[in-house]
Amino acid sequence: MGSKTQNNTVMVKTSLPISPLPPNNTRIALTTDRLLLRSLAASDLEAMYVLRTQEEVMRWTSSGHIDMKIEETRDKLNNFLPPNDTKTFNCAICLKDTGEFIGMGGCHLFPAEHGWPEVGYMLRREYWGQGLASEFLNAWLKAWEGLPRSDMDIRVQKDMFTGNGNDNGNGEDVVREHLIAITEEANSGSQRVLLKAGFERFREFDEEDVSEPTGVVKLVAFRYFPGSKSRK
Ligand SMILES: CC(C)(COP(=O)(O)OP(=O)(O)OC[C@H]1O[C@@H](n2cnc3c(N)ncnc32)[C@H](O)[C@@H]1OP(=O)(O)O)[C@@H](O)C(=O)NCCC(=O)NCCS
Repeated sequence: MGSKTQNNTVMVKTSLPISPLPPNNTRIALTTDRLLLRSLAASDLEAMYVLRTQEEVMRWTSSGHIDMKIEETRDKLNNFLPPNDTKTFNCAICLKDTGEFIGMGGCHLFPAEHGWPEVGYMLRREYWGQGLASEFLNAWLKAWEGLPRSDMDIRVQKDMFTGNGNDNGNGEDVVREHLIAITEEANSGSQRVLLKAGFERFREFDEEDVSEPTGVVKLVAFRYFPGSKSRK
């Protein structure tokens, strides 16, 4: 499948949100029953540090450990502030009633190493188990799906779109737009959030992880096709 292959990647035709993405100062805050979803701001640093120093939260993230210093948190936050805001689509997750910052989520990699945009989320431990991540993801997906799009050629890993390539007659693969989420095999809560939002599990793989006794972490890739579901 595919025309110009390079290592384990292939060029495909697809549609994606137009880059640069809308800057933070043009994004309209969203509300759900219980949440306020707004652009991240430099003033979120302290609250983000509280979130990123919770072991139970951070063990499931790509870094795998808490931030040791607030400078590490600042580096992370800077990925979502100008001038980097137009490369990502991440937001602060706050309680609607009080405005309290309880987490963050959205597209933190665009494109990720596999070539597609990737979504993720994290909430402070004391707010788990109330359906808040699902409430966030449902609203965020609607915003993501509402972004202006165009057709484009992108390079993606071959095993990140299995079963969706269709030759358009010119020797080019036309692939349905993907949004990817990657979880650890053991992260059942996050997987449930993804499945409830309409993602499908499609690939398992191992990654090197020096913090694991085996030296390997088992990961699961989920995908979502923007525009495939009607959302309230
Ligand atoms: C993942 C996370 C955001 C989920 O937040 P949340 O607000 O508790 O999620 P929700 O309440 O919307 O949904 C969780 C679902 O998983 C289920 N669940 C939770 N823990 C589970 C477990 N150990 N096994 C199976 N299901 C589980 C819940 O019952 C719920 O499903 P239900 O609505 O059908 O009952 C939160 O746990 C978190 O921040 N974790 C740390 C960071 C992280 O893992 N991020 C994702 C990285 S891919």
